[in-house]
Amino acid sequence: MLKYDVAVIGAGPGGYVAAIRLAQYGKKVVIIEKENVGGVCLNVGCIPSKAMIHASEVYHQMHHTEEMGITLKGITLHPKKLQEWKEGIVKRLTGGIAGLLKAHKIDLIKGEASFQTRRELLVKGDKEETVAFDAAIVATGSSSIQIPGFKPDGQSIGTSTEALNYTEIPKQLCVIGGGYIGLEIGSLYAGLGSAVTVVEATALLLPGTDPDLVQVVARELKRRDVKVFLNTKAVGWKAVQGKAEVTVEKEGKPETLSADKVIVAVGRIPNTKNLGLEKIGVQLDGKGFIKVNDQLKTNIDGIYAIGDCAGQPMLAHKASKEGFVAAAVIAGKRELYDVRAMPAVIFTTPEIATVGLDEKQAKAEGYEIKSGKFPFVASGKALAAGETDGFVKIVADAKTDLVLGVQIVGAGASSLIGEAALAIEMGATSEDIARTVHPHPTLTETLMEAAEAIHGTAIHIFQK
Ligand code: NAI
Repeated sequence: MLKYDVAVIGAGPGGYVAAIRLAQYGKKVVIIEKENVGGVCLNVGCIPSKAMIHASEVYHQMHHTEEMGITLKGITLHPKKLQEWKEGIVKRLTGGIAGLLKAHKIDLIKGEASFQTRRELLVKGDKEETVAFDAAIVATGSSSIQIPGFKPDGQSIGTSTEALNYTEIPKQLCVIGGGYIGLEIGSLYAGLGSAVTVVEATALLLPGTDPDLVQVVARELKRRDVKVFLNTKAVGWKAVQGKAEVTVEKEGKPETLSADKVIVAVGRIPNTKNLGLEKIGVQLDGKGFIKVNDQLKTNIDGIYAIGDCAGQPMLAHKASKEGFVAAAVIAGKRELYDVRAMPAVIFTTPEIATVGLDEKQAKAEGYEIKSGKFPFVASGKALAAGETDGFVKIVADAKTDLVLGVQIVGAGASSLIGEAALAIEMGATSEDIARTVHPHPTLTETLMEAAEAIHGTAIHIFQK
């Protein structure tokens, strides 16, 4: 029997980060992964989607250079070559992680793990092995929700995983679900020339996101001829002459849509089945997430859970943060998951990035608020880059001026949000942001101007 200080189940951005940190603390660690090192994020999620989104943006922009006096002719897209390039990026990154695990003397076992007892796992891989441990971290992630009638069939119907692997650009793409994944995939293929239709069950795209931000993305989707059906549910499909004929119900009335490919992106569920969790008495909540406290401990001594399988938000950086905390707790350090600022980014065109509370949430929490907004169109850098859509909004506590939240929609929002997260985590006021010298000409000045706008002192917009 193999024996370790800590067994980590799942090598995604939760599990591999926790394993490396534990090794840094001097622990003898094993990580068990049934598929590939890097998990969904590196293999079929965050990273390959960003590669494809980048290529899509380059391609789209190449068709819009005339205004700058640049005429391009003969632009050709080779989808198979694009796939090879994307796979190369994934391989470099996952290879790098595998190398780091090795360098930290972390054993990697390929196989499927399940708890036999509160101190032993059975791993089914090339052979069966029992792994004994003093502590275990469950970091098994999440999977796409399937809806009845839309089982992935390896041909017409797929999830985001299939969408990132197309070797031909679909002429018509139907995306079911107007959430994070649906809009990232929809934007990306619209940029590559597909005729995209998004079917969303609720009255809004990206339900739960400040509609002010969503509106800017919706406008760009319209410019790219993306058709959006709101209050519409996908109910079934059939194959007709090599295409998928999708039946949807718009406000109760049936309609049909034709598509070469259909992507289902209606949410994700935690991977907490077939792990033997019930057998050892680990408690789950009503949605199947493992219940954890602020030290990522489950109700069973020595068993921890992190990342998507341990609750919302399902974000890679939340998983990594929880991995750091769990590793520190296991190593006997005084540590808590005490995060004030959890940024979230939606990689649409343009990007949406948020951290902390928006106006509605801050009011609901009882704050008296003041907010400042600055449009990208008034930024010299945004103009020079031809990226004038969007704005920065800062929400501050009217009494203390402490920054409560920042919402950004626009090119580069994903990078700008880092400063906002630091501001909230450090307890900065909006005046702190306004008084900090920001480099010119950069998009970071939009944050400074939005902070000034709270005090009525923005320079590059007129405030009465
Ligand atoms: P989501 O929860 O963001 O969106 C699913 C959407 O599908 C909702 O708007 C829902 O109203 C709609 N829907 C549900 N059933 C439907 C039906 N039958 N017909 C039409 N619409 C229907 O889920 P999504 O996009 O699958 O992403 C899952 C999670 O993964 C996200 O919540 C996020 O936490 C994470 N993620 C994060 C990303 C990032 O950080 N950039 C990117 C992608 C995913």
